[in-house]
Amino acid sequence: MKIALGVGGGIAAYKAAEVARRLMERGHTVQVILTESAQQFIQPLTFAALTGQKVITGLFSEASPEATLSSSVEHIGVAQESDLLLVAPATADLLAKFAHGLAPDFLSTTYLAFTGPVVLAPAMNSNMWQHPATQANVAVLRQRPGHHLIAPDSGLLACGTTGPGRLAEPDQIAAFVDAVAHPRHDLEGETILITAGPTQEPLDPVRYITNRSSGKMGYALAEAARDRGARVVLITGPVHIEEPAGVEMVHVRTAQQMREAVMAQLDQASIIIKAAAVADYHVVDVPDQKVKKSALRLSLNLDPTPDILAEAGRRKGDRLLIGFAAETQNLVAEARRKLETKHCDMVVGNLVNSTSTGFESDMNEVTLVMSTGETVEVPAAAKRAIADVIFDHALRLRLALHGAA
Ligand code: CTP
Repeated sequence: MKIALGVGGGIAAYKAAEVARRLMERGHTVQVILTESAQQFIQPLTFAALTGQKVITGLFSEASPEATLSSSVEHIGVAQESDLLLVAPATADLLAKFAHGLAPDFLSTTYLAFTGPVVLAPAMNSNMWQHPATQANVAVLRQRPGHHLIAPDSGLLACGTTGPGRLAEPDQIAAFVDAVAHPRHDLEGETILITAGPTQEPLDPVRYITNRSSGKMGYALAEAARDRGARVVLITGPVHIEEPAGVEMVHVRTAQQMREAVMAQLDQASIIIKAAAVADYHVVDVPDQKVKKSALRLSLNLDPTPDILAEAGRRKGDRLLIGFAAETQNLVAEARRKLETKHCDMVVGNLVNSTSTGFESDMNEVTLVMSTGETVEVPAAAKRAIADVIFDHALRLRLALHGAA
């Protein structure tokens, strides 16, 4: 597929070279368009060497003295020849231009002339990202047909602050582009119930017990299922991720609330995926008032929370039930134990004591343990890519267990 890669002027522009490389590895042809300010951060030659294509650097820069009509309307040509327009990094300025239809340069002119799918990967300083003007532009672009936005990650930014605004990982962007480029509709007609994130168990009106789950894996599963044509119900604990468009959201806080939401939706679902990191204990008799400090030792009186996955296992019928096992050791043995005791069809095991994969990361590395006895190791990849692999195996497993519907 021919991809036009627009690169905006931000410190993340250097990462666009890696994005181009990942796209090439996936078999795409990449035509790079650098804005003028992007050229302050990265040389056109870098992209030319990587992509084997002439890099476009300006509206009129290619026009020779005997400029013809065809060279002055090159942006129309790029727009017509490309199958997908990816902009990474999409700066606040570019988002504003796209949202309002301004076209002072080659990239924004190509954007206006382009009629295919557009993928925007914003990157900027946190305050610029969170500014109401940027957020209003993002809201406009999200609603525009054929537009897809890869939300920026949170983390340490080049300006020294920490917060949302970091360009998503190149591998994640390339996987996202592939998912947009080759939409599969193999989940059409299905209702997929997914739980995500941590739960919070109150200690008193102002304090709670929780865990490090970010919800990213569950949200990636919801997006993958939606893109493959499913109706998706996402039951989520409190997380800091943007809500995926086109997904039915149910917000909960405690394990008990998550249980009620899951049981209320279970009958409608054909596949249930419990990616949430549910708290195992809750405080008995939560006080109405804030607990006051004293010099004495304080003990918590904890009761187990309901095991939602185990209950779903008892009620599932022919539904495909997929659990998660977050482990720090004995991954496969623990995943298989949970598979058997909770009557799952598949358990996705992941080691959570690594910093590059697991809880807060955008990447994951998992082992799929199946009720057929099969075990599949999925190498490290973006959570969105892992989500698609999980669905690929889930569909194959269902066929093996129940035959064609
Ligand atoms: N789970 C659940 N309800 C709970 C606890 C866990 O539905 N009260 C689900 C999780 O959503 C996950 C699976 O069970 O799909 C495994 O969760 P995990 O925390 O790894 O296992 P536990 O059963 O809690 O066992 P342990 O904490 O001993 O590892």
